[in-house]
Amino acid sequence: MGELNNTEFMSKTTVYTGSGSLKFLSTTLEKFEDGNILVVTDKGIEASGILNKVINSLEGVSTEKHIFNDVKPNPSVTATNAIYELYKDKGIKKIVAVGGGSVIDTAKALAVLFTNGGSISDYFGFDLYQNQPLPVFAIPTTVGTGSEGGHAAVITEDDKELKTKKLVFGEALFPKAAILDGDLLLGMPSSLVSTTGMDALTHAIEGYVSRNGSILTDALNLHAVKVIGEAILEAVADTTNVSAMNKMVQASASTGIGMSNGGLGLVHGISHAIGAQFDAPHGIVNAILLPYVLEYNWISNPKKFADIAQALRVNTWGMSVEDAAKAGVKRVKELTLEVGIPAKLNDIGIEKSSIDVLTDIAFNDELYMNANPRNATRKDIYTILSKAL
Ligand SMILES: [Fe+2]
Repeated sequence: MGELNNTEFMSKTTVYTGSGSLKFLSTTLEKFEDGNILVVTDKGIEASGILNKVINSLEGVSTEKHIFNDVKPNPSVTATNAIYELYKDKGIKKIVAVGGGSVIDTAKALAVLFTNGGSISDYFGFDLYQNQPLPVFAIPTTVGTGSEGGHAAVITEDDKELKTKKLVFGEALFPKAAILDGDLLLGMPSSLVSTTGMDALTHAIEGYVSRNGSILTDALNLHAVKVIGEAILEAVADTTNVSAMNKMVQASASTGIGMSNGGLGLVHGISHAIGAQFDAPHGIVNAILLPYVLEYNWISNPKKFADIAQALRVNTWGMSVEDAAKAGVKRVKELTLEVGIPAKLNDIGIEKSSIDVLTDIAFNDELYMNANPRNATRKDIYTILSKAL
C-alpha cells in the first residue's frame, strides 16, 4: 500500500504553466553557465512552426544556437550516439528540447554524453555517470510524454540481437525547467492528442495503482486522471480549445512527476517490448493495451480502481466497490474508442507470431513487473497479449 511504503519523492524541475509561458525560457536559460545552446527537435515540430516560435523567443540570448531537427520516434543507441558525435566539439552547455517524449529523452541522453563521453549504453541504470550532465530545458509539444517532469530517458538498445528499451536514470536528469505552454499546442493534429493523451492517462492510472507509490504520487496521478477525463474529448474534438489543451499538457506533466517517483506497470512493460521490436508508436500501443491490462489488474486493489471510475465521472452510486472498479475499466475502454484509437494490436501490424518474444521481454522487465499491482506470470502476459491482438 502506498501509504506504508518507504519512498523518496524527488522533483527538481521548475515548471512554468499556462498560455504564453514560453516567455520564461530566455530568462531561465540565462541563470545557467554561459555557453552554446543545442536545440533538439524533429521535422514535424519544425514544419508546424513551433520551433520558430521557440527560436524567436531566444532573440535576446546572445550565445550561439545549434539546431538538430531530426530526432526519430523510439530513439536508439545508434541515433543518440550519432547526434553526440555531430555536436560534441561545438561548445554546447545547455540543451533545449522541443518535442514529445522521443525528443526530450534524446536531449537527456545527450546531456549525459556531452559531459561524460562514450556510448549512451554505458549509462543504462541509475546514476552511472561521473560528471554532472548538461542542463536540459523541456518544452513538450505533445500532451503525453511526462518526460519533462521526470529523470529518465528511454533509449532502444538497437545494437543487440534482441532489441529492448533501456532507461538511463539520474537525479540530475530532471529538466531544469519545463515550459507547459498550451498556446504552442494549439492546432496540433487531433490524432496526436488522442495517442499522447491516452499515454498520459496510462501514466496516471498505472502510477495510481503502482506498488511503489505514496500519498504524494497518488495526488499527482489521481487528479491527472480527473483532468484528462474532463479535457481529452474536447481537446481531441478541437485542438484549438485553449483551456482543454492547457489542462492536458499540465495533467501530463503531473503524471511525469508521479511516474518518476512511483513507477509504472504492465502496460508500459509490454508496450516497451512492442515499441523496441516494431518501432510502434508508444501512445497508440499503450492505449490499446490499457483496458486489457486493467481488466487483469483491477482485482489487486478494487478500491483504487473504483476511485479511477469516479475520477472519470462514472456514476458509481449504489455500486459495490468491485462493480465500480469494473465500471471504471469499461469507461477506459470506451474512451479509447471515442478518441479514435484502434481496438487491437493487429490493427497496427503486430502479429501473433511475435507474442512469445514480446511476452519474454515484458516478463523479464523487472522495472515494470515489480511496480505492477498484480503478480503477473509469463502465462498472464501471454494471455493479455493474445486478447489485445
Ligand atoms: Fe508512456
